[in-house]
Amino acid sequence: MFKQKHIVSMRDLTRDDVDFVLDYAEKMMPCAKAGVRLLQSRILALLFFEPSTRTQLSFDSAMKRLGGSTLSLTSEESSVLKGETLADTIKVVGEYADAIVLRHPREGAARMASEISSVPIINGGDGAGHHPTQTLLDLFTIKKESHLHDLDIALLGDLRYGRTAHSLVYALNMYDANITLVAPEGLQMPKHIVSTLDSVRLTEDIDEVIRDVDVLYVTRIQKERFPDPNEYLRVAKSYRITLPVLEGVRDNLIIMHPLPRVDEIAQEVDQTKYAKYFKQAFYGIPVRMALLAILLNGAT
Ligand code: CP
Repeated sequence: MFKQKHIVSMRDLTRDDVDFVLDYAEKMMPCAKAGVRLLQSRILALLFFEPSTRTQLSFDSAMKRLGGSTLSLTSEESSVLKGETLADTIKVVGEYADAIVLRHPREGAARMASEISSVPIINGGDGAGHHPTQTLLDLFTIKKESHLHDLDIALLGDLRYGRTAHSLVYALNMYDANITLVAPEGLQMPKHIVSTLDSVRLTEDIDEVIRDVDVLYVTRIQKERFPDPNEYLRVAKSYRITLPVLEGVRDNLIIMHPLPRVDEIAQEVDQTKYAKYFKQAFYGIPVRMALLAILLNGAT
């Protein structure tokens, strides 16, 4: 399918590509704990120039479950501290590894890396830009725990800076989802993304929509991306999902969150049947195993 391709945004993938990854991830489910030797002697480099728990560790785990190995580098450990450019770093790491997962604070960094890299670049999050592999696992979660066909979904929170939301809505549009974007004033999704969506509604009020959706996708306010700390404080506590907020929701509602969460979902919600965010984090393993197997082996 797309062996040796760069995965920088969801626009790099067709609907057929996405369906193929999701089907392949289903095949990987039994191997997500037991392992399978598909990528022996292959090496994945993990370049994380911004903090990460899930993306870094699940790629690491996925590669090792496939029989491969990983190299890890953060900005604090690398020669970037001595002034080396990202471009030179990518060129060199491409000599040591078969693919590179890059997380970087600058929007567009992964695209730039893909233009000069000799090995596939997988965007693990570029500033407030994109996070396509999070979207693949989000879609897999929706497929497993709800349904992708005829989906009513609300995305809640920081849709301005939240890269997981940016990538997800592009993909949901491929599946003709009915999308509601719920954000406090100043944090609504950028117009250039909204304008690409076929069925979309914008509101500031979660109470208006929460009873009419199959999936509620909650996001954290991205404190680290606010140029003005006072602006962050203005919106910091503008929404919170609690048990009373969930009264009257659809019986089959699922609540997702890319994590980390701060306090936008109360811990009491974790015990409800709606909460799927920890399962969502687990699905990162089979999905990233599938993606790596396809990119590096051309799995068919
Ligand atoms: N969902 C996600 O990207 O989490 P991390 O920042 O922990 O990788």
